[in-house]
Amino acid sequence: MKTTMVYHNPVLLKETVDGLDVKADGVYVDVTFGGGGHSKEILSRLGEKGRLFAFDQDEDALKNKINDPRLTLIHENFRYIKRFLRFHGVKQVDGVLADFGVSSHQFDVAERGFSTRFEADLDMRMNQQNELSAFHVINNYEEHQLKQVFLEYGELRAAPAMARLIVEYRKTEPIITGVQLKSVLRKFLPPRHENKVLAQIYQAIRIEVNQEIEVLKEFLEQTPELLFKGGRLSFISYHSLEDRLVKRFIRNGMFEGEPERDMFGNFEVPLKKVNGLIVPSKEEIKANNRARSAKLRIAEKL
Ligand SMILES: C[S@@+](CC[C@H](N)C(=O)[O-])C[C@H]1O[C@@H](n2cnc3c(N)ncnc32)[C@H](O)[C@@H]1O
Repeated sequence: MKTTMVYHNPVLLKETVDGLDVKADGVYVDVTFGGGGHSKEILSRLGEKGRLFAFDQDEDALKNKINDPRLTLIHENFRYIKRFLRFHGVKQVDGVLADFGVSSHQFDVAERGFSTRFEADLDMRMNQQNELSAFHVINNYEEHQLKQVFLEYGELRAAPAMARLIVEYRKTEPIITGVQLKSVLRKFLPPRHENKVLAQIYQAIRIEVNQEIEVLKEFLEQTPELLFKGGRLSFISYHSLEDRLVKRFIRNGMFEGEPERDMFGNFEVPLKKVNGLIVPSKEEIKANNRARSAKLRIAEKL
């Protein structure tokens, strides 16, 4: 497999780790290890007794393991965070960092199928062991399911017509590559906005393949119980669906509706936000274009 020079450039590195307010002897979790940039920064702020647990579901990320006795790297989906921390004897932690989404490595390796730049088979699995792939979604989903994926996760107005066209086309032959998919959907790609619409289509498929919304919800729901009082969450999101869930969860402790009130009429919520929304500086975006859509939110356990 082709490897890239830089696995991943960490985004909002200082701001995100500052958000954890690292205590030298604390226990922290980086649920999206990737190239290990954020983990390395956490380790640099921990003392000898501090501990860091990191998760990544992509086996390619395991090659970036940092040789440090304070680090335990877990090759699992962070939707199982509580279960695997418990397995390592940990019930509560001082902070959790998440840098959601896809690593540059995943984008840059053509065969992974995440990028619209390459001629590659439809795949997009972050965990290569998973059965659900982009090929399966495009070739086996019913028309109404495809429509829902494009509408909900890609916010594409042409979703019904796109789904219909895909279902029609695949009666003649399977859609195997990204290039084929692009040619099937050609009429929905206006020349001036081709890349933007294609990115929305790819985003929608990727979210479905990796079940990103369900996973994020399951993960967020476990975090209040996992944190000690005063413990921190520091989360970077890259698209509005993700950021909306994080924002609502921090504000209300739930995704829909409003929390219950206590006997004094105050909302009973498990977290309070720390600072407002943090986004990368112009300089960071200039140096690393992939930082452009990043949104950092920090919260503290009450
Ligand atoms: C944006 S990258 C993180 C980069 C990292 N912060 C760094 O500095 O190198 C996101 C990583 O999280 C992993 N990931 C995404 N969703 C995951 C999940 N549900 N469970 C475990 N790992 C996940 C991806 O495989 C990817 O390596």
